[in-house]
Amino acid sequence: MSENGSSANGNGNGEVEFKTEDEALQVLLDGDIDKVMSGLDRIIEAAPSYEKLFMRWQRQHWSTEDFDFTVDAEQWNDPSVMTEEEKKFMLFGFSQFFLGEEKVTVELLPFAIAAPTHEEKAFLTTQISDEAKHMVFFDRFYREVLGMKAADIGAMLATQRPNVNKDWETLFDGILHDCAERLRLDPTDFPALVRGVTVYMIVIEGTLALTGARFIIKALKERDWLPGFVSGFTAVNRDESRHVGFGVKFLADAIKADQANALIIQDTLKECLPIAPLVFAPSWVEDPYSFETPFYHSTEVFAYAMKALSKKLAAMGLDPAMLAGDPA
Ligand SMILES: [Fe+2]
Ligand SMILES: [Fe+2]
Repeated sequence: MSENGSSANGNGNGEVEFKTEDEALQVLLDGDIDKVMSGLDRIIEAAPSYEKLFMRWQRQHWSTEDFDFTVDAEQWNDPSVMTEEEKKFMLFGFSQFFLGEEKVTVELLPFAIAAPTHEEKAFLTTQISDEAKHMVFFDRFYREVLGMKAADIGAMLATQRPNVNKDWETLFDGILHDCAERLRLDPTDFPALVRGVTVYMIVIEGTLALTGARFIIKALKERDWLPGFVSGFTAVNRDESRHVGFGVKFLADAIKADQANALIIQDTLKECLPIAPLVFAPSWVEDPYSFETPFYHSTEVFAYAMKALSKKLAAMGLDPAMLAGDPA
């Protein structure tokens, strides 16, 4: 039951209709990753206010200490459960997330300073604490399940640096860092904030992270692997859905206020999209545009990511056909 006493109704097509933004936000409390993903579609359609998103954050706290990693550690160390090839691929995915959480934690502060309203600032400060929590969650997972040792979080991150690919570095160390740096130098630069939110909430979180997480969690659940991690990572991604909800609303409002912002979003997507899909590819595959993993083929991931991005563009009032490139 939702907190305002009302409930969502089925429409007969297996989908759920939400009459209010409170009902749409209710999916953020769900423990099932596919429901979290389909719920995000409703959230971006309902476009909850920043205040509503803030209230949801208040009611949705979880702790990195909530999860029991005993079974996870046993499975990770049992060669009859997981092969070396499966573990190698999983470690690639985990490390890109772990280092990604660190980058989005430290780069978000200039966004909060540059946000024009106090409602936006209040939400973005909740997001900084979320991202820090995600980074700490991964650090605990690396120590207690993967058995890695390091003096502190920074040292642990350094041990995993060789696992990220060069396109991850271009996106996070290059483009995202540049967005944050421009906002740090001039917090009044609103076009820079539009570009930054497009890179951060739409490309990194809404297109890459939620897609990657969905495939990882699905593969683990199908095999009954790493139950503590699955519970924690699902909580991480409920937070991510809330962050993407903020980004879509922010950009939709920016476009309504000034159509010139639509062009900035379009140019930013053109900047990111040649790199973005390559972030999914481990450095050892021959063809980063088409490769097999122990769990799925890359074409499934690319198709899911493209659909996820199209839905967000449509919710902002943009034509997803822009992703096909210039007709000229
Ligand atoms: Fe995160
Ligand atoms: Fe996030």
